[in-house]
Amino acid sequence: MQNLMNVTDLSKAEITELIATAEDIIANPDKYADCCRRKKLATLFFEPSTRTRLSFEAAMLELGGSVLGFSEAASSSAAKGESVADTVRVVGCYADIIAMRHPKEGAPVVAARTAGVPVINAGDGGHNHPTQTLADLLTIWRERHTFENLTIGLCGDLKFGRTVHSLVQAMARYHGVKFVFISPEELRMPRYILTDTLEPAGIPYEEVRSMEEAMPKLDVLYMTRVQKERFFNEADYIRLKDTYILTPDKLETAKSDLVIMHPLPRVNEISVAVDQDPRAHYFDQVKNGKYMRMALILKMLEVRV
Ligand code: CP
Repeated sequence: MQNLMNVTDLSKAEITELIATAEDIIANPDKYADCCRRKKLATLFFEPSTRTRLSFEAAMLELGGSVLGFSEAASSSAAKGESVADTVRVVGCYADIIAMRHPKEGAPVVAARTAGVPVINAGDGGHNHPTQTLADLLTIWRERHTFENLTIGLCGDLKFGRTVHSLVQAMARYHGVKFVFISPEELRMPRYILTDTLEPAGIPYEEVRSMEEAMPKLDVLYMTRVQKERFFNEADYIRLKDTYILTPDKLETAKSDLVIMHPLPRVNEISVAVDQDPRAHYFDQVKNGKYMRMALILKMLEVRV
């Protein structure tokens, strides 16, 4: 696989293979400690990040490789007007693989044309975030041991939330999955996800406003942040930002084995009191993200262990 732009660039068999590798890394970390020696990962982050950038860097370091890159466009020559195509063409002379985040949808596709080395989309605007989905899939797998016959609730900013777009595209490929989209009218799931992914395959979904009504039927509840950085109008952000706040009382009607997820960062949408609930798995997603990124780097660099 040359590049990872979208989670559907990976087949279901490849997802299974990445999960198996991640599980083996968790069980036998020493086996992998030196397998990317002399390999370099460049992290080109034109937009802020804590988890994605640092977990990619931790992943490469734990594989025995090295990392270089930048964490904001202002500290790169993008600030002087250099194009994405030229930036990655240059970085491809220094690194063996590139993970890139950019505020513009589709920028990683442009990068992949000139990089000369594999490019991973580490989040492009409000579009896709395939490696967050890899973290999410390992988390669901470790809790439920299946991807089939699950009812998945996605709550909050479904319009701009790139993590939910990628997760729906990944989970829609498994038998018996149903989706409940919980959002205010202004932040509904984009039409293209419904018309291009769900409706042609006859995958059941419903769009609702009330988290409380949806709660009893859910196997997975995926909370998301209302993304201030994607709004044109601050008044709209302020009006919508606290539409959904998950608190312990709202979980009283939930299943005992509900998997509560969030890609993080959170702002107000999950009360810290929920962190003590054994069903809360959002910090597991953080750990799982590093292992799946390790597995992905090995696959894309064709490193055999
Ligand atoms: N989940 C996620 O993408 O977090 P960061 O923005 O901190 O990378």
